[in-house]
Amino acid sequence: MKGLIEEGSEIVQATGDPDAIDAALIAAAQRVEHYEISAYGTARTLANELGYDRTAALLDEKLDEEAQADKLLTKIADGGIFRSGVNEQAATQS
Ligand SMILES: [Fe+2]
Repeated sequence: MKGLIEEGSEIVQATGDPDAIDAALIAAAQRVEHYEISAYGTARTLANELGYDRTAALLDEKLDEEAQADKLLTKIADGGIFRSGVNEQAATQS
């Protein structure tokens, strides 16, 4: 996770096409969400296996939150919130 955060920080400091930087930032944020989804998913499975039902339920809620964040980032990248997505804007700028 520390490496993913550092990667995002490098993108924030990057110079160049702002649309390409936006697309790269979204991709970096999604890598963080995917890491979180993997970690919470594994922890939830272990909690279920050990019979920690309340913990598993809480981890399931966190998984839903992370999945929603990932979907929102995809919408921003592919369009749906803005007329066209950040990825499309980045592609047309180059
Ligand atoms: Fe997250």
